[in-house]
Amino acid sequence: MSPRRLEAGELELGGGLEVLLAAALEGMPAGARVEVITPSRSTALELPSWAHASGHQAVSERAVPGGPYAVELERGPFARVLADPLPEKRPGPRLRDGELHTADLRSPAEVPAQADPAAGFTPLGALAERGAPAFRWTLNERDALWADDVSELTEQASAGQWDASRDIPWEAARGLPEFLERAVSQVMTFIAQNEYGALYVPAGFLADVNPAYPEMLQWLSSHVHDEARHVEVFTKRSLIGGQPSYALASTELSLHTLLDERDFSGAALLLNVLGEGTFLDLLRFLEHYAPDAATRAAAALAHRDEVRHVHFGISHVRRHIATDPDQTAALIGAAERRAGKLTEMSGLSPLLTEGLTVMAAGSLQPAELARGAREVRELMQTMEDNRIKRLRAAGFDQRDAQHLSDLHTPNLM
Ligand SMILES: [Fe+2]
Ligand SMILES: [Fe+2]
Repeated sequence: MSPRRLEAGELELGGGLEVLLAAALEGMPAGARVEVITPSRSTALELPSWAHASGHQAVSERAVPGGPYAVELERGPFARVLADPLPEKRPGPRLRDGELHTADLRSPAEVPAQADPAAGFTPLGALAERGAPAFRWTLNERDALWADDVSELTEQASAGQWDASRDIPWEAARGLPEFLERAVSQVMTFIAQNEYGALYVPAGFLADVNPAYPEMLQWLSSHVHDEARHVEVFTKRSLIGGQPSYALASTELSLHTLLDERDFSGAALLLNVLGEGTFLDLLRFLEHYAPDAATRAAAALAHRDEVRHVHFGISHVRRHIATDPDQTAALIGAAERRAGKLTEMSGLSPLLTEGLTVMAAGSLQPAELARGAREVRELMQTMEDNRIKRLRAAGFDQRDAQHLSDLHTPNLM
């Protein structure tokens, strides 16, 4: 078989000719030959040593006087990468009106049930070269992490980003009466404190997730990013009136026990379903009774993010219980363990109850305060009712849902 001809033109080694040669040799079997035609004598002289260094061999050289020169190379037997040959090219993922969604990168059946704990950062579709250092991931099982709509939720998270500096009408928060600003500042500080907890939980799992589940990494990263913005927006709201508040020890104790839960599904129940679920009702209440447009916007935007976080939790826990019914007892155990550490907490901090009451009353008039106190009591009841509904949606029966709701931290998160 006569060798394939490759016109080097003006290309030189180190100036692009090596790329042309690599592309030509890559697709050829070992032993096949290519004849490189070059007008340059020095390139012709360099080609044999280049071939040798690249695992190939120069088998003949000839020149007509004054050029061009022809150097025949034989492809060597070595692969350039320590891996099996790449699989066949296949059709790329579908587009939705020009958009490439994460959910369309692979089918649910292609998500591996088990991932290699030692595997490295191999992007979807790539073939890992051998010889890389081994990692030791701890979250290597799909069913311990997954939610069927995780990719769609990530998509919503990307589309729903907002800016805590620019998307809040901050000017509107200035100039509230002092009693009201004190109440708002204390409530905002309480929320910001809890948002830290909501940030550290997913952040704590993120770097344990096997890179074979990029959908989960995207989801957890979006969750962490959302919570960082919640810390930001509620801290800013507490600061804008210049009124300092307390970061309460009871809240700290509650969040400490939340971070103690090192099982991903246990944490999803405690944080996403119970904690963030309860916060949905709190944020709605604050949106309704906010004395200014900045507080209202902060509560509304955070609520929009929390809906996603809660949705993930319900979806994950429901799938987790459905794939392994024994998990019900394990999840209840996680809630009982946490409640066991919170026995000295009897209720929401009085500072918080007062802050919420003043916000709902909007004044210190006795009649208004009585109404505010009633609204806060109703809020607590709404929280409990909705908690039970969410637990039922997550797959618990009525008795377990009631039990889990009763065990939930008085700190709400
Ligand atoms: Fe949050
Ligand atoms: Fe959240």
